[in-house]
Amino acid sequence: MKIVTVIGARPQFIKAATISRLLVHDPEVEEILIHTGQHYDLNMSDIFFEELNIPHPDFNLEVGSGSHAIQTGKMMEGIETILMEEKPDWTLVYGDTNSTLAGALAATKLNLPLAHVEAGLRSFNRRMPEEINRIVTDRISDLLFAPTATAMINLEKEGLLGASCLTGDVMFDSTLFYREKILENPDLFKIKGLPQEYMLATVHRAENTDNIQNLKNLFRAFSESPQAIVLPIHPRTRKIISNTIIIPANVHIIDPVSYLQMLCLTLHAGKVLTDSGGLQKEAYFLGKQCITLRTETEWVETLHDNWNTITGTDPEKILTAIRSAPPVSSQVKSFGNGKAAEAIVEKLKSRQKLSFL
Ligand code: UD1
Repeated sequence: MKIVTVIGARPQFIKAATISRLLVHDPEVEEILIHTGQHYDLNMSDIFFEELNIPHPDFNLEVGSGSHAIQTGKMMEGIETILMEEKPDWTLVYGDTNSTLAGALAATKLNLPLAHVEAGLRSFNRRMPEEINRIVTDRISDLLFAPTATAMINLEKEGLLGASCLTGDVMFDSTLFYREKILENPDLFKIKGLPQEYMLATVHRAENTDNIQNLKNLFRAFSESPQAIVLPIHPRTRKIISNTIIIPANVHIIDPVSYLQMLCLTLHAGKVLTDSGGLQKEAYFLGKQCITLRTETEWVETLHDNWNTITGTDPEKILTAIRSAPPVSSQVKSFGNGKAAEAIVEKLKSRQKLSFL
């Protein structure tokens, strides 16, 4: 079985690593990896390949940054050429970025079988570029791998149940796997020079970075936090704040970190403040209270007993959440059993066999 995997942005490297790790040892499968080049900085791309042992990409399209249409269009052009040559049994796309959409459209327009990992997520906010990418990708995929029961319900409501299967979340697999590695050797992944006690924050969503008032509100809340804030910064956020925001003294801005460094930072944080989808879940998996700096979340399973509080960018709401008591209940097991990657590979193989009957 030949699989072409299309990835391009940081969270996709993490998700694809869980499946590539299985495929590389599978004599029945050949995986061909396309990196679109959506993320290209050393610490947004290369360090993930090295740290997570992802095979070197067979193709790098080096599309870089651009408007949504330019970025997606360039990717589609490059992916189409490769797919026509390789004629894979499956094209595999992950998550909800422009790389996901480009891979999905290119494969479907060539009538090639398409599978989507992390299907069925919905924020119900069509102003998010990711929401459009998810809806379109799910609609045109032949096989949909849903991480949670909520995602399955969303797919059912859109008439897509026949193509869907509940596998669990590959991000949960990944957190379980690498948490052990960090606990075995915690000093290896610790970032030096940071305060002992801190809250971990990330801000990169367009709805926050492209709205100066939202950014100002966030930094006002950070400045009043009783604990220091450690903020590994996405390059887009760095560019925007450099001319617009005065960084408060208690906010420690650091360069983007590797996946294992990020898990380590999360493990030692007081609380997590973020507009990322992935980090909301990682906080939950690692037993940390999360404050979501958006007006909604796709990961509704985390919204119980103060595990995750949606505050948007309102400084008062953020500060109330920062001061709130930690949850007393345990996390609910909504993200599978840590073997989502195995379930996905099995399903890809069995569906491929069916297509030969
Ligand atoms: C993308 C995804 C988002 C995901 C995020 C993970 C889309 C629409 N969005 O957002 O869903 O959560 O990746 O990080 O696909 N830049 C660099 N170096 C890089 C990459 C980006 O400097 O290696 C800067 C550029 O100025 C670029 C900006 O960041 O214009 C935004 O990058 P882009 O890939 O368009 O989207 P992300 O914000 O990273």
